[in-house]
Amino acid sequence: MTSTVLVTGAAGFIGSHVVDALVARGDVVVGLDNLNDYYDPARKRSNVAECQANAQASPGSYTFVQGDIRDRPLLETLWTEHRFDAVVHLAAMAGVRASVDDPFLYYDVNLTGTLALLEQARISGLRSFVFASTSSVYGNTTVIPFVETDTCDRPLAPYPASKRSAELLGHAYHHLHGLSFTALRFFTVYGPRGRPDMMAYKVLDNIFFGRQVPLYNGGQMHRDWTFVTDTAAGVVRAVDRPLGFEIINLGCAEPVLLADFIATVEANAGRKAELRPEPMQDADVAYTNADITKARDLLGYAPSVHVHEGVASFFRWYQHAVLAKATA
Ligand SMILES: NC(=O)c1ccc[n+]([C@@H]2O[C@H](COP(=O)([O-])OP(=O)(O)OC[C@H]3O[C@@H](n4cnc5c(N)ncnc54)[C@H](O)[C@@H]3O)[C@@H](O)[C@H]2O)c1
Repeated sequence: MTSTVLVTGAAGFIGSHVVDALVARGDVVVGLDNLNDYYDPARKRSNVAECQANAQASPGSYTFVQGDIRDRPLLETLWTEHRFDAVVHLAAMAGVRASVDDPFLYYDVNLTGTLALLEQARISGLRSFVFASTSSVYGNTTVIPFVETDTCDRPLAPYPASKRSAELLGHAYHHLHGLSFTALRFFTVYGPRGRPDMMAYKVLDNIFFGRQVPLYNGGQMHRDWTFVTDTAAGVVRAVDRPLGFEIINLGCAEPVLLADFIATVEANAGRKAELRPEPMQDADVAYTNADITKARDLLGYAPSVHVHEGVASFFRWYQHAVLAKATA
């Protein structure tokens, strides 16, 4: 059955892969993104152009709209123009450390912006609302691997606090209005079209362009790196399964030491990075590790890309999308 889906944050890293996955299986997709300058908007425009090119085989399957999720008249207009079956809400300010410097912006976009979409979803009687949450809501929990029943009431920065707040808001809309709301907690996603502020990208920028890159705590922290196509596949499965109210981890369940992850990136590049040592940041968690039993049971989610394969794929993308363009 074909669905009509609104994807917010569609020009971003994960959003562009979700758009591709939905269009590829025959859905009609509207992408919404304000193309903000948290990182170079040219990168986001190029993501949009790739999605549009990938959608060319099915005319009308993808429409991109530049706009803000907090613009309620715009949301009303979108809903009069389309009968959405589902919303995949990925638009956000997404930096843990950046949220410490700009907490008002983080709350405005991540919470008030989510509220604007939930209200529109309520008014239209939407079937399925899928929300991008984060592993950082677990803070420095001692319950490892991270499991969804953990209370998650000790976030370490405004970003995870805003995401946890949005999960709670989703519950209120489910309780009051019967909206199906699934919060997916993503775990350190990486891969082609990756964000320039994320580790694999920064290591390569240091190696090839000599950009200064801090290395916190000597790389002595674990992350449950998840390849972006696995994440996108989990999102699509959540779109198809309105579950009432659920919170579900979407990790890889294979945590890797940051120092080892960097060594894998360096091995692909054939060169060592020179990273600037910095102490552990208060906003950073020491460990992320997903229990993905619930995702397997409820979504049939089965991540399949291991770090060595995923980093090689990211490196190939960086070579043609970043290096080749810089030297052209
Ligand atoms: N990448 C990860 O490892 C990771 C981990 C956990 C959670 N997440 C969540 O997944 C989602 C996507 O993350 P990403 O890594 O693709 O980040 P991204 O920054 O590449 O994508 C987010 C997109 O949202 C857009 N956006 C921001 N504010 C907006 C607004 N007010 N109106 C419209 N568009 C707006 C941005 O322009 C950007 O293109 C985010 O909600 C993020 O919090 C990501």
